[in-house]
Amino acid sequence: MLTPVMSRHWDDVDSFTLEGYTRHDGYTALPSALAMEPDTLIALVKDAGLRGRGGAGFPTGMKWGFIPQGSEGQAAKPHYLVVNADESEPGTCKDTPLLLANPHVLIEGIAIACYAIRSSFAIIYVRGEILHVVRRLQQAVLDAYAAGHLGKDIGGRAVDGVGGFDLDVVVHAGSGAYICGEETALLDSLEGYRGQPRLRPPFPATHGLYASPTVVNNVESIASVPAIVLGGAEWFAGMGTEKSKGFTLYSLSGHVKNPGQYEAPLGITLRQVLELAGGMREGHQLKFWTPGGSSTPLLTAEHLDVPLDYEGVAEAGSMLGTKALQCFDDTTCVVRAVLRWTEFYAHESCGKCTPCREGTFWMVQILERLEAGTGTEQDIETLLDTCDNIFGRAFCALADGAVSPIVSGVKYFREEFVAHITNRGCPFDPVASTVFSATTSVMGGTA
Ligand SMILES: Cc1cc2nc3c(=O)[nH]c(=O)nc-3n(C[C@H](O)[C@H](O)[C@H](O)COP(=O)(O)O)c2cc1C
Repeated sequence: MLTPVMSRHWDDVDSFTLEGYTRHDGYTALPSALAMEPDTLIALVKDAGLRGRGGAGFPTGMKWGFIPQGSEGQAAKPHYLVVNADESEPGTCKDTPLLLANPHVLIEGIAIACYAIRSSFAIIYVRGEILHVVRRLQQAVLDAYAAGHLGKDIGGRAVDGVGGFDLDVVVHAGSGAYICGEETALLDSLEGYRGQPRLRPPFPATHGLYASPTVVNNVESIASVPAIVLGGAEWFAGMGTEKSKGFTLYSLSGHVKNPGQYEAPLGITLRQVLELAGGMREGHQLKFWTPGGSSTPLLTAEHLDVPLDYEGVAEAGSMLGTKALQCFDDTTCVVRAVLRWTEFYAHESCGKCTPCREGTFWMVQILERLEAGTGTEQDIETLLDTCDNIFGRAFCALADGAVSPIVSGVKYFREEFVAHITNRGCPFDPVASTVFSATTSVMGGTA
């Protein structure tokens, strides 16, 4: 069931060093990539069927192909690759372990991607709070320069017959705002502005960083590329399902026996991941879970056999998102969990648009009343009505994510919301309920 490709050597004590990486074929994909034409490389990634691992699942090769090439207009401007390592959503915790365990696979992926899109400048935008990751990345970049994998005339390969392939990589520490993971807010933040999403079109592919052609890709997307170059498109596409191909990292957290990263082909089910992880903690049942972080609609125990690929999860009424499988057992008060997530979104709303800025604030007020037992059944309707007025009407997807746990929470557990009203308080024993420590540790691990 498990296909450790990316995480194969994470147990090595020196997996994060240049020596540790090169011992296991590290930096051998780069010369193979440089032996191809850039467009052949883009076609390879397209054929492999790699889809962005940052949440939306957009085909990576197609995104690279959108970068205008040539010497006229936008194409003549510098091209940029920006790696999104902001990872801030509650429950989402795959890029941080990947970067800690093997920063060089990302750097090799960056070099290959930059060669393909004809870019000589890449930025890794990483959460500033995770200082240990920032430092590890900075050291890895320095080591890659020293070994000649970055810098001038890499691999002695001319690009399109003109000059050598030069590449500079900068590690940029963000200041810790969830909105700065949204790709256009990230670009504004990089340019020194307050991180707020941009209106699209124009899209980053033509008018991204400094109004120049830019690819923004997630850490895991880019880190998957060296294996595709070495193994080939057919090998990669041979894993996973028809439309969701390859291997990926599933992050299991919550009330489970062995939380952690589980690398498997797309399409594995939560039941299978739980089997690998030893199941839910002793004596308790799965109550609800998120397939891809807190911004993806909740699912329940009846969805244990849903294939965890983009199509399967969508069919079940949710989204695969970042594949952050947060599992909550029968001791968890769903109203309290939803309230905690909503507080997060209200805090992280950038304030640019009214539906999100005002809506998330009011949703917290209503949920606080409901959780405290001072709400009314009308409050549940007002809450759903507010969600309805936010979804699809905000400037970016942060607000859509904010309403996801609320709408799905009421859909599956309306009786629990009502029980708070009729009981005039939370029906859960506040001592036996572990929801506070569970959500705190999940959020604390990734914030
Ligand atoms: C509020 C918000 C936060 C986001 N945070 C991240 C993030 O931390 N990391 C990430 O890769 N994508 C994040 N995204 C998605 C990015 O906008 C973008 O789709 C992604 O970086 C593209 O990379 P991919 O095509 O490789 O998936 C976020 C989106 C939104 C709306």
